[in-house]
Amino acid sequence: MSLDAVLSQIDEDLPAATERLLDLLRIQSISTDPAYKEACDTAADWLVADLQSLGVDAKKRPTPGHPMVVGHAGPENGKPHLLFYGHYDVQPVDPLNLWDRDPFDPAIEETDAGTVIRGRGAADDKGQLMTFMEALRAWKTVEGDWPCRITFFFEGEEESGSPSLVPFMKENAEELRADFAMICDTGMFQSRTPAITTMLRGLLGEELTITAPSKDLHSGMFGGIAMNPIRVLSRIIASLHDDQGRITIPGFYDGVPELSDELEAQWQGLAFDHAGFLGDVGLSHPAGEQDRTPLEMIWARPTCEVNGIGGGYQGDGFKTVLPSQASAKISFRLVGDQDPLAIRKSFRAMVEGMLPPDCTIEWTDHGAGSASGTATDDPVFGQALKALSDEWQVPAAYIGCGGSIPIAGHFQRILGTPPVLIGFGKDDDQIHSPNEKYDMESFHKGIRSWARILDAIT
Ligand code: BES
Ligand code: ZN
Repeated sequence: MSLDAVLSQIDEDLPAATERLLDLLRIQSISTDPAYKEACDTAADWLVADLQSLGVDAKKRPTPGHPMVVGHAGPENGKPHLLFYGHYDVQPVDPLNLWDRDPFDPAIEETDAGTVIRGRGAADDKGQLMTFMEALRAWKTVEGDWPCRITFFFEGEEESGSPSLVPFMKENAEELRADFAMICDTGMFQSRTPAITTMLRGLLGEELTITAPSKDLHSGMFGGIAMNPIRVLSRIIASLHDDQGRITIPGFYDGVPELSDELEAQWQGLAFDHAGFLGDVGLSHPAGEQDRTPLEMIWARPTCEVNGIGGGYQGDGFKTVLPSQASAKISFRLVGDQDPLAIRKSFRAMVEGMLPPDCTIEWTDHGAGSASGTATDDPVFGQALKALSDEWQVPAAYIGCGGSIPIAGHFQRILGTPPVLIGFGKDDDQIHSPNEKYDMESFHKGIRSWARILDAIT
């Protein structure tokens, strides 16, 4: 096997690979919005066709939501059987007016910081998914086949909490079980250091609507005597953190581990530039628990964040309304052994205990998943780390991730398949936000990295 030949093939084919990615980015596969159901289907078809063009026996597999794409290829030869996972769905694009171009009319742009691929899904996750597709394409072109058994598993509901995933995994456990699940949906450390992510936070989503008067009222006629639900909601939200940034929900910190000495030392070695991290988004003060380091705040400590709040008059001008309802969407990032369902119960009890007379509350459950961690004892991790270091010419690192990828835990728990989380996203990719981009460097070196990893572990 000639790794150099595969790497050269990748370099030569980069323009065509970029065109393929742009093609995929044009498909408006927003999974949370039912208006884009057909587009999600089209993205799944696109991937099936691309896999088939690689000689993979691939099929679109229906679920009650958006389809999965599953394909199998490569020899059964005693080498590790690798599963590659990515998601073809993307986040909604609003607010559209903050985009500098149509989010689904992607383009290559030259910026001061280099060449970027701009468009919704460029980094999360279509560009990342295509890094391993292109690596495998180049490998097949040069070598005629792959060095081991390979399963492809693409999902179209990741951005909406993967409702069909667990049932699908359970039903197809035998088919999907592999030695390792390579998940390309994470980033590098501080945009420069290639990394394997070994800790992901869990996620609990809650939405609440408080109703006080039975209809909107005139705030002059009723103000002072009628209970205002926004006042109630504000007091509840304000009470969720204390002055030190600690979350006040009873039992919230049960199951939150302290950092091991080993991890603490390792993270100190990473020399996280928190001033730069915050400075890039116009901030300067870490706002989490004040007795924790910045890296702990984003990787190892749980959070409670209000993601949206509504009620009353929000249009232009002014309206003296005393609203009937107020609502909030609140998410919790969880770590260690925190139990999402126990936290949901305690949170709801605390909030309901703060409701004054005449107020009622309605809850909407937006999913609950615990944190996950991966042991890195298997030699595959060291081999992948070295392959990454070789490509990027910087020692690769084991890192945590503040985001949540529930599937990582599901692979481990349902299939017994350890997840290997490697991605090439950068902190300024603006995933989930307007003007999302993926650096051409991430795409190109990402493809090359997968070729090196495949070479190193088989
Ligand atoms: N790719 C992200 C996860 C991620 C975020 C990795 C930041 C690296 C850095 C993934 O697509 C995502 O956005 N996950 C959601 C959770 C999902 C259940 C909606 C998240 O973390 O909010
Ligand atoms: Zn995402």
